[in-house]
Amino acid sequence: MIAKKPPMGWNSWNTFGDKINEQLIKEMADRIVEDGYRDLGYEYIIIDDCWSLRERVDGKLVADPALFPNGMKALADYIHSKGLKFGMYSCAGTKTCAGYPSSYGHEFSDAKQFAEWDVDYLKYDFCNFPVSGDAKNAYLTMAMALRSTGRDILFAACNWGMYDPSGWMRSHGAHSYRSTGDIFDGPKSYKDLFISQVENVENNAPGCWNDMDMLIVGMHGNGNVGIGGCSDLQYLQHFAMWAFLGSPLIIGADLRKLDEANKKILFCKGLIEINQDEECRPPFLVDHDDTRKYTFAKLLSGNRIAIAFFNLAAEDQWTQNVGICFDDLGIHSESGIRLQLTDAITGEDLGIYEDSYATKIAPDESKVIIAQLIFPE
Ligand code: DGJ
Repeated sequence: MIAKKPPMGWNSWNTFGDKINEQLIKEMADRIVEDGYRDLGYEYIIIDDCWSLRERVDGKLVADPALFPNGMKALADYIHSKGLKFGMYSCAGTKTCAGYPSSYGHEFSDAKQFAEWDVDYLKYDFCNFPVSGDAKNAYLTMAMALRSTGRDILFAACNWGMYDPSGWMRSHGAHSYRSTGDIFDGPKSYKDLFISQVENVENNAPGCWNDMDMLIVGMHGNGNVGIGGCSDLQYLQHFAMWAFLGSPLIIGADLRKLDEANKKILFCKGLIEINQDEECRPPFLVDHDDTRKYTFAKLLSGNRIAIAFFNLAAEDQWTQNVGICFDDLGIHSESGIRLQLTDAITGEDLGIYEDSYATKIAPDESKVIIAQLIFPE
């Protein structure tokens, strides 16, 4: 099955924008493998906008030979030889967002071309869409075109949350759908995107996932979407939010320059485990206080429940008390069920709790817990 779990990988856009080339993409594939990302599940290497010539040749999209001298098939072979998967980009409109040729009216021939290049993932953007066009139908057409190739190609629809995609994208063949506008590398951006999606993730299930946009973890204000950057605590919060809500985890930073603190965030096994859990259930919102603090829960495989507390207060605001009564998880005291809690970020054993759990979290801090249910004898 394609996209049984939220896709994980790396995409060129956040850091590199139009500054992409074959050597760069190969280096990212090398880093993903050699630095251990692949073993944690990061498997797609995705080229975003700006890879082609400015015009079609004989009706076909052509990789810019100055940037990709050996062509896309050779690059796909390189990526596949590393045990990774190859992602490419096109757009539902007449031009991509950066003005390159795009797939409107060329869906079937472009899909065939991508399949001939052994592409495994297609990000499908939404710029320059004709006013007379039918957007939902255009996404369905590309879904059909990809199916017609006979190759398994993950269809990553990117229409930025327009026309309430949480329902129709699943029915129209997308394996993930961008639910928001573009992320930028600052705390307000990731917090606003999170707030916009907290009640919009219940359709997350195998085969189609709400994509809250690529990760900014570790960018530190550099690159194409850099606007000042975040603190490490904020990058951790951003990653914990994306992981918990079930978003695809697509790294946007330059993997060659990631510092140890941010690599540790992207490597956080407890958070990845929650995102990639076998039962693939969406989380649910337990409680929130305006837009400052949020409590989520998510049922996991193995009789476990993940619980997350996020403090979104700006850095100069106070530490907040957070907590959860197990009644809110359907666990009433007469059941005799106890919860063995482990901190998903640090791995610390927090002990056994019977009715509730409470703690304090600093501004921008997150507490994510995995609770193992202990049933009475
Ligand atoms: C808009 C998308 O939302 C971005 O992620 C990126 O793909 C750009 N277009 C490329 O032009």
